Amino acid sequence: ATLFFEPSTRTRLSFETAVNRLGGRVIGFSDASTTSSSKGETLKDTIKMVSNYVDLIIMRHHLEGAARYATEVTETPVINAGDGANQHPSQTMLDLYSILKTQGTLHNLTITMVGDLKYGRTVHSLLMAMKYFNPTFRFVACEELRMPREYIEFCRRQGINFEEHTDFSREVIDSTDILYMTRVQRERFFNEEDYLRLKDSYILTLEKLKNAKQDLCIMHPLPRVNEISVAVDDDPRACYFKQVRNGRYIRMALIMKMLGIE
Ligand code: CP
Repeated sequence: ATLFFEPSTRTRLSFETAVNRLGGRVIGFSDASTTSSSKGETLKDTIKMVSNYVDLIIMRHHLEGAARYATEVTETPVINAGDGANQHPSQTMLDLYSILKTQGTLHNLTITMVGDLKYGRTVHSLLMAMKYFNPTFRFVACEELRMPREYIEFCRRQGINFEEHTDFSREVIDSTDILYMTRVQRERFFNEEDYLRLKDSYILTLEKLKNAKQDLCIMHPLPRVNEISVAVDDDPRACYFKQVRNGRYIRMALIMKMLGIE
């Protein structure tokens, strides 16, 4: 079952494609307002009820920890397809696979994360997963959207090298192996004014890539709004549409793993 309490294009469609290609069938919803949660049904009851219909639940929810909570009320396996501003682990699996395919290794890379590092769940999950591979991180964000303290502390505890920048400078870009751009997460802002003020803080253009490494990998979990100029799409270093395709393979593998299929 794909239970999407928050909007999605890639994650839901790639999970559904993955199920279909593996010969399974999918039920679910992509608009919670059409379900009985709009009548007041609790998340717990929804999960317990859906568990009777399916072998696997794939869930996106606006509450941080919602997927973990779901695992506590059902024996049916649950995949977190994004929980608020917290984590997006299946995105990280496809990100790791994309990095491995383009760089030939996951080890000893300089990874620059740019944009909304506060609310961007994909960067939180990727940061944690990279602890096994001796990364060097650069976090480029404005003051209001800095990497949250818990992830900074995580880096310190794990002995991971990191720098924080507010300037998206050529110097940072030119010495980067992986440039991970993110969208400012409008849906997590309390007021529109702040969003409008911050949304275009960092925009990647071809000009900025002039002296960047030839094997740089430019990533973005998508959707993109304005943070990567469309002119960059034709640069061979742009990897974000390849990431999307890798999502299909990774999610097929994840489903097999979760269901114990060799
Ligand atoms: N990358 C990602 O999670 O995209 P969607 O929000 O479209 O699923």
